Amino acid sequence: IQTLQTKRFYSSLQSQKIKLPGILTDIDGVVYRGGHEIGNSRFVIKTIFNHKFNNKYIPFALLTNGGGIPENERAEYVNHVINLDNEPQGTRIIEGKDMILCHTPFKSENLLQENENKYVLVSGLGDMIKIAKNYGYKKAIDIEELMGLYPLLHPERRSDHQASYYAQRKQQVLERLNISEDQLKKELKFDAIFLWSDAIKLEANIQIFSDLLISKDGRLGESIRNKTDPQHVKLYLTNPDLIYADKFKLLRHGQGILINCLKLVFKQTYGMDFQYSQFGKPERVTFDYAEQVLRQKADKQGIEISDFYMIGDNPEGDIEGANRKGWNSILVKTGVHQHLDEFGKENKHEAKFLNIKTGMFGYGERQ
Ligand code: G3P
Ligand code: MG
Repeated sequence: IQTLQTKRFYSSLQSQKIKLPGILTDIDGVVYRGGHEIGNSRFVIKTIFNHKFNNKYIPFALLTNGGGIPENERAEYVNHVINLDNEPQGTRIIEGKDMILCHTPFKSENLLQENENKYVLVSGLGDMIKIAKNYGYKKAIDIEELMGLYPLLHPERRSDHQASYYAQRKQQVLERLNISEDQLKKELKFDAIFLWSDAIKLEANIQIFSDLLISKDGRLGESIRNKTDPQHVKLYLTNPDLIYADKFKLLRHGQGILINCLKLVFKQTYGMDFQYSQFGKPERVTFDYAEQVLRQKADKQGIEISDFYMIGDNPEGDIEGANRKGWNSILVKTGVHQHLDEFGKENKHEAKFLNIKTGMFGYGERQ
């Protein structure tokens, strides 16, 4: 009887759980564009973070396809741009744990366990090694370090004026891994490639990614696989955006440019396709991760999430991904959307709930 009573007590408690909406917002083109606050985003974010309903905070996070910087540093930057860093002490502002970048899901157990002690090639604009270290990948090597180790890999490394820079990068990897050059070259066998932000050095990326994707066992320049051999090196991409809204008046090309070029070049060179895993909006894997983050925030407060809201400026990333999850998608016309015409594109992904002409954060006075 006692057990039954206890069970009833707890289930009655459960049914009384407070329910609040979970809110996610995109950053570029919604919160700010090219380092300038859009509308009144400071006030909206401050309110969402600090207003309590029944003594509970709204589960909230920022979900961006941007990356190349640790979550806490990106949080600091956003606070700075929208002036949240000047709020009086005690005001809740954005922290690293509220920030879901394109590579944040790589923190998760399964991906880490699989690659923690394997050689992985990390690439993209920013300090990839710092991010890899934060997440716990012990043997991450970046593109430039690899070009330092193998001068013949790419023409840029062979040019005299770049030699000292690359020699320095080589030294860094040897010191970090605490290994001699000979030993590293003997054991270097890559199992995965992670592209964690915008692809710079596009031609170097295409060259080196192709070398690894065609290799039989992940060793650079060793045996090449044929069509019947399995692909040894796994390729993970984190942002499919072909275009995004930045400082320049025209939209800019994002990470999506690399995958398009790489597919074409690989097919033309080797007559076959390669496999890859895609993260970033609108991919399900990224939206599932974001859902998990919000649910954990709700759990910590002992509340439940009633429904999910996603605010975005890019129909193809933010709205498509949210619609697929059955969430309340909100399109603001302050970023990618307002330029679709220039690219001869139509909006194929109608926002479910709202379609605000001036932008979600574009109304009201700045406070
Ligand atoms: O694709 C580049 C990236 O900066 C887009 O960011 O915040 O609009 O997902 P966001
Ligand atoms: Mg955006």
